[in-house]
Amino acid sequence: MCAPVHFEVAYAINAWMTPGAVVDTALAVQQWETLRATYEGLGHEVELLDPVPGLPDMVFAANGAFVVDGVAVGARFAHPERAAEAPAHAAWLEAHGFGPVTPTVGTHEGEGDLTVVGDLVLAGTGFRTDRRAHAEIQERTGRPVVGLELVDPRFYHLDTALFPLDDTTVAYYPGAFSDGSRRVLERLYPDAVVASEADALVLGLNAVSDGRHVVLPVAATGLAEQLRERGFVPVPVDLSELLKGGGGPKCCTSELRPRPL
Ligand code: ARG
Repeated sequence: MCAPVHFEVAYAINAWMTPGAVVDTALAVQQWETLRATYEGLGHEVELLDPVPGLPDMVFAANGAFVVDGVAVGARFAHPERAAEAPAHAAWLEAHGFGPVTPTVGTHEGEGDLTVVGDLVLAGTGFRTDRRAHAEIQERTGRPVVGLELVDPRFYHLDTALFPLDDTTVAYYPGAFSDGSRRVLERLYPDAVVASEADALVLGLNAVSDGRHVVLPVAATGLAEQLRERGFVPVPVDLSELLKGGGGPKCCTSELRPRPL
């Protein structure tokens, strides 16, 4: 995670951002601290990346790299405004034993468009991630990559429309995906939790599950109820300031998946 001490809406690179939007940075930091404390309270270990002045979106730590089985794949950001975040992630990862970290040739923004469900990597494309990066990630990780096409600009990263619940299933908002990708999701995850548009529009799918607890935006009340019915424990958090940048809990979180023992 990376504290939002330099967070502001200085440019617009997604449909949620209005340049010049008034941001209460102190409140953003406070909300982010609550997210961090929530993870720690659930028994997770949180590592911190130093925020860099001039990189207001660095709080969205999910985007700097993709780490699975202890292998880190460096991001190549789609927008120049965020490009300098990638070397900061790579330096941290290399200093902590995940190196060497090099970017892909095709653009991809780490866990923004990449997630792991059991053996598979699910990979978004359509807005930020180049299909070429999917092939590169499969080659570098040795895990099968399943490409999913995003079609609604409000859901510009896969993690705004889908998250893994555990090793066997996911929650997602079908309206974010192309027809073919919807059919892929129905085939792979017939028992998925299917979220409503209302919950998707508060970035309710930008959630983090540890297989039991699901940390999700407080406004996603319908989704929280669906999760409860399925035996999960919803843990709501309020990240209203960061929503102005188009992010929620998952965007603030990069998962460091270790090498298998
Ligand atoms: N303003 C950031 C961008 O558009 C938000 C990134 C949110 N991160 C995420 N994993 N969806 O790039």
